[in-house]
Amino acid sequence: MITKPKGCYDIYGEEGRYFQKISEVVTMLAEVYHYEFIRTPIFESSELFHRGIGESTDVVKKEMYDFTDKGNREMTLRPEGTAGVVRAYIENKLYGEPTQPIKFYYNGTMYRYERPQSGRDRELTQFGLEILGTDDPIADAEIISFGFQVYQVLGLKNVKVRINSLGDKDSRMVYRQKLVEYFKPHIHEFCEDCKERFLENPLRILDCKVDAQNPILKDAPKTLDSLNEESQTHFQNVCDYLDILGIPYEIDPTIVRGLDYYNHTVFEYECEIAGKKLAIGGGGRYNGLVELLGGPSTPCVGFASGIGRVSLAMKEEGIPVEPDQIDAYLLYVNEEEKKYAVYLSQELRLAGFKVETEYLGRSLKSQFKQAERLGASFLIILNSEELDRNEIKVKNTHTKKEEMISLDTLIYYLDEQLPSFHDEECDCCNHEEE
Ligand code: HAM
Repeated sequence: MITKPKGCYDIYGEEGRYFQKISEVVTMLAEVYHYEFIRTPIFESSELFHRGIGESTDVVKKEMYDFTDKGNREMTLRPEGTAGVVRAYIENKLYGEPTQPIKFYYNGTMYRYERPQSGRDRELTQFGLEILGTDDPIADAEIISFGFQVYQVLGLKNVKVRINSLGDKDSRMVYRQKLVEYFKPHIHEFCEDCKERFLENPLRILDCKVDAQNPILKDAPKTLDSLNEESQTHFQNVCDYLDILGIPYEIDPTIVRGLDYYNHTVFEYECEIAGKKLAIGGGGRYNGLVELLGGPSTPCVGFASGIGRVSLAMKEEGIPVEPDQIDAYLLYVNEEEKKYAVYLSQELRLAGFKVETEYLGRSLKSQFKQAERLGASFLIILNSEELDRNEIKVKNTHTKKEEMISLDTLIYYLDEQLPSFHDEECDCCNHEEE
């Protein structure tokens, strides 16, 4: 048997419903917050990610799906969405559009060669937002609040928003120097990767997975103590706007993020899943990335969230996503009735009803069972003689009431009956009147 690659999943059934539900909420909110959809290629030139994400990051060092294509070009399956969006912004000269800033949202698969475990996949689906072309802290606050609202609408109650600031380029330089001085006497106690990180980018030591529990990390200098006045003001403004928006957050000086392009605001949304803390989303400001990739200096901010992790968080909190119930099931026995079922199911579907019919030529009894399995609200039983009289039998599966109605009134009948159907008491389910 050929099996799926490690760390990848077939997403269908219950998991498929979670994915769809999360995507629907993201699309709905992205529209009201006025973000435009963007889809960039799933693979891009390797250089984009090496330069954009940073050579010293784990993502670039250890997790890239690199390959050489048939034309001998170095390519990479995208590990995240931001670098591709920035490349598209530059290549399509979107910085020249009159409607700045540009606000994009996306939803797609990303690839990271990680050690697979719960919530850590090799093929993952992220939704994300990017605002390109503004330095205003209201953009940072809008992005943070968007993520929070997505989780709220999905029903998540235990999401913690943790924010920090890395400061601007100058503040980061000061911070880097403090880290070098702090780690220098201890670096021999760290893993081999951290020894390299110490030389390349000591900030990366702070999010090392191997040394995460090393007590030396706990007392390491904090970015907030190295912010210059401008960076402090930016961060204070972000916090003020979050207060206005009513977004609860914690300032957490340990957040540094695992990608090199950040400056100023960084943040994560954290949930506890099976007793472990897991980031279901994260992002921040990246004012230098457009320039780094060859575009004009453009301040940007964004975030992304792993749909698989959001789905895990929803299950942890016991938030169900029930299968869609169908409005009506069309039952038939003979060929003439079948033809009518074919015609009528299309008419009803085009009128907006969720309709199913029989595909396997089962007995009428088995069709009743199938309709029950699919949770049909109404059964529409086609009978040649009744159809000749322009009549049709409809059965409400809750009240068990059967009615013979005129064919011409079927759509009006369903329109009228369906809203009250779900409020009715019945023997087959336990719902209670509010
Ligand atoms: P990131 O923190 O690397 O940021 O990923 C964002 C989210 O993707 C994580 O919080 C997590 O929910 C999910 N994720 C990451 N890796 C995995 C994995 N192996 N398995 C399952 N889920 C995963 C970024 O990707 C940035 N591009 C976010 C951003 C956008 N920053 C600015 N704009």
